[in-house]
Amino acid sequence: MHASIYIFLAPTLLHLTRAQNPKRGIAYLGDTHKSDNSLLLRDVSPLSWYYTWSLYPATAQIPASELEFTPLIHGIDGAEDSATKNALNGLPASSQHLLTFNEPDGTTDSGGSSISPEDAAKAYIEHIAPYRSGNSRNWNISHPSVTGSPRGLEWLQDFNTSCYEIDEKNGCPTDFIAAHWYGAFDGLKGWLSSLDDFYNGNRSDDEPKLKIWVTEMALPKADAEATVGMMNETLPYLDGLDYVERYAWFGAFRANDANEWTGDGVALFGDDGALTDLGALYLNGKKGEKGQGEEGAASGLHANCGLVLSLLVGAVLVNYW
Ligand SMILES: *[C@@H]1O[C@H](CO)[C@@H](O)[C@H](O)[C@H]1NC(C)=O
Ligand SMILES: *[C@@H]1O[C@H](CO)[C@@H](O)[C@H](O)[C@H]1NC(C)=O
Ligand SMILES: *[C@@H]1O[C@H](CO)[C@@H](O)[C@H](O)[C@H]1NC(C)=O
Ligand SMILES: *[C@@H]1O[C@H](CO)[C@@H](O)[C@H](O)[C@H]1NC(C)=O
Repeated sequence: MHASIYIFLAPTLLHLTRAQNPKRGIAYLGDTHKSDNSLLLRDVSPLSWYYTWSLYPATAQIPASELEFTPLIHGIDGAEDSATKNALNGLPASSQHLLTFNEPDGTTDSGGSSISPEDAAKAYIEHIAPYRSGNSRNWNISHPSVTGSPRGLEWLQDFNTSCYEIDEKNGCPTDFIAAHWYGAFDGLKGWLSSLDDFYNGNRSDDEPKLKIWVTEMALPKADAEATVGMMNETLPYLDGLDYVERYAWFGAFRANDANEWTGDGVALFGDDGALTDLGALYLNGKKGEKGQGEEGAASGLHANCGLVLSLLVGAVLVNYW
């Protein structure tokens, strides 16, 4: 059912070569099992993009020609770092979007970037907004991606206030919005609608509306049936929602590589690399199917992904509202 829609869309988007869904991507922690990655990249896979919470693509696992890569500036250090500009300039021309500040309303020990709205506004205007234009390449830039919580929305309000205090005319210009969600489908709907209201509610009809990218989502700590049910409701909803431009499930790893906070119900692959029910639904395959290639290293994830895994702990805490 999905395939026919994507085949129809594909010819309008030159960089899409398979039966890809231009919205569907993956939050990629760095699974080194070749067979798992082959399931992400084979012809029937609907994936079209991915990101790594960093400026650096996982080119060894995901060749640049296969999925579009979206870089992310994680915190203030990255915004100020002179290496950032070179890293961005070195990315393939297909990378046109830049994500900023990961969960600034979350603490660093849980993987957030823990930045006050004032400091974020200052760094955004000084170091990030200039990437939109006037450089060797112009990026489409997101506002910081807060946790899916009332605290996240408050942070965005304070950020906006600080932005206009610094630049009365322009504030912190943005091209799209990044959202995180861990929880049930109804909560996801409500959160996206709150963000849409916040950013687009007061725009007049002739002003373009800002689109949302859901860059992390999952139903944490639930059993396989509930998780598949949530994903099964979520995917058609997001595919049909105009103001959602892209989304990425968390995550593309084996059950035994899942972190404690999400639980292993969110994994697309079982311990042996076979597609779970969830993986089959997200990747357009069959439950139990395995990919091609070696099994990969004993631990499927890069060591440097530990930080990213721990990020989620923070995101979880704020979803009780
Ligand atoms: C970049 O953002 C602008 C809005 O600021 C939008 O009109 C344009 O289509 C975006 N480009 C891409 C490649 O998404
Ligand atoms: C939208 O406009 C209303 C009424 O002027 C105002 O109270 C509200 O704060 C505005 N919202 C945003 C997000 O600017
Ligand atoms: C941001 O602040 C400006 C200036 O106060 C205001 O006009 C605008 O509506 C605010 N935007 C949002 C999304 O709150
Ligand atoms: C997904 O939803 C459809 C209807 O919306 C239903 O027919 C199907 O059984 C559901 N599948 C799962 C795995 O929940």
